Amino acid sequence: MQEANNHTAKRGTFSSGFGVLAATLGSAVGLGNIWKFPYLTGANGGAGFLLIYLLATLVIGLPVMMAELAVGRQARSNPITALQKLAPKGQPWWLIGAAGMIAAFLILSFYSEVVAWVFAYVFKAIGGSILSNDPHVTEAAFNAMIGDPVQSLLWQWGVLIFIGGILLLGVTKGIEALAKKLMPLLFLLLLVLCAVSLSLDKASEGLAFLFNPDFSKITSSAILTAMGLAFFKLSLGMGAMLTYGSYFRDDQNIPMTTVRVMAADLCVSMLAGMAIFPAVFTFGFAPAAGPALVFITIPAVFSQIPMGQLLMVAFFVLAAIAATGAMLSLTEVPVVILHERLNIPRRRATMLTILSLALLGSTCALTNNVLANFKLFGLNMFDLYDFISSNVILPAGGILLAVFVGWVWGKEKFGHALSNQGKLNNPTVTRAAFFLLRYVSPVLTLLVMLKGLNLL
Ligand code: PHE
Repeated sequence: MQEANNHTAKRGTFSSGFGVLAATLGSAVGLGNIWKFPYLTGANGGAGFLLIYLLATLVIGLPVMMAELAVGRQARSNPITALQKLAPKGQPWWLIGAAGMIAAFLILSFYSEVVAWVFAYVFKAIGGSILSNDPHVTEAAFNAMIGDPVQSLLWQWGVLIFIGGILLLGVTKGIEALAKKLMPLLFLLLLVLCAVSLSLDKASEGLAFLFNPDFSKITSSAILTAMGLAFFKLSLGMGAMLTYGSYFRDDQNIPMTTVRVMAADLCVSMLAGMAIFPAVFTFGFAPAAGPALVFITIPAVFSQIPMGQLLMVAFFVLAAIAATGAMLSLTEVPVVILHERLNIPRRRATMLTILSLALLGSTCALTNNVLANFKLFGLNMFDLYDFISSNVILPAGGILLAVFVGWVWGKEKFGHALSNQGKLNNPTVTRAAFFLLRYVSPVLTLLVMLKGLNLL
């Protein structure tokens, strides 16, 4: 505790209102928006799924995000120390922070590999080597890249060094300054791509795929998928938002920021869908899932559009920007924990984190080549880390945090934090968020988790 207090005075902060918004949105917006959201929406009945996702975001995402930000700002510490400070003595709520650190390492290990492909594709799009209107050719190019251990490792380590470099600049000059520049650029690129895609012949087919409700596809598993997505999308349950909350200024309006981030993140997801599907349908492709959609279908589609190469560069730059903000927030969690808990200088904590990630992450870089046959519990390392983090740690972290705020920290302190110690007049927001945290979010999230573990 003592060493943590020593750091409080010189902790970084987000310096402006726009900076807070850009950085927090930067964490939420990620690869999740570019392919996960559009694909899942399309595959699970379009508008119906959208509606459930929206509902899940409102009843789980919003309150849990407010809780994380409020706890973080109130304690002005890393996730472990924050929960130690706010919980009654001797109660082990700090374990949520410790689990979050493990989740950060696991998510980053596979996430950094997908980001590595994105960065590689920015350069390959510029060089023109992935330009072909034949999906077999683009598929072969993708398989050649992920099948090559040296390329996979080098791109991944390159991405990690890039992220580490930004974090070395600190919270204000690194994370915030970059987010303020990149977030507007992200929206600009997205709007351009959307305009081009919507002007194509069969744009309406793509829109129908995305937005026409097909209620027959809304199964219980689709509902649970929507709730899980809301969690991952808003970077909840592992301390990323809690850490960012600890950098918020005292006068930052937490409920307002939460609503804005959620709305802007939703906007990015919808625009991404509208940039991808009209183009995919116009050229007669099937809306494939996951990596195949982004790395195989997109190059084949864009190769057939006028100025397609430029647009493809724009698309992968967009994905790279989105992924960078998400990675920064993920990496910041172990960095700040190591820095404040073990009292090691921030620079060294950053380098230690990046080095550990290079080691653990390499098991994912090698998943599609050298370690192709290596499996634990029937899963390769890439899928295993994804499973443990997304299906176990994030939902468990979310449930425990909701229970902590709803039953331990209590309404008065939570309300105080949300109202900036009484300066904002928002009792209704507090009441609603508190009710959801106490009774609704934990129960619904438990359902997501049990489903994820196939126990339901
Ligand atoms: N929200 C990010 C995305 O959509 C992923 C993420 C999860 C980031 C957890 C931080 C913490 O890609």
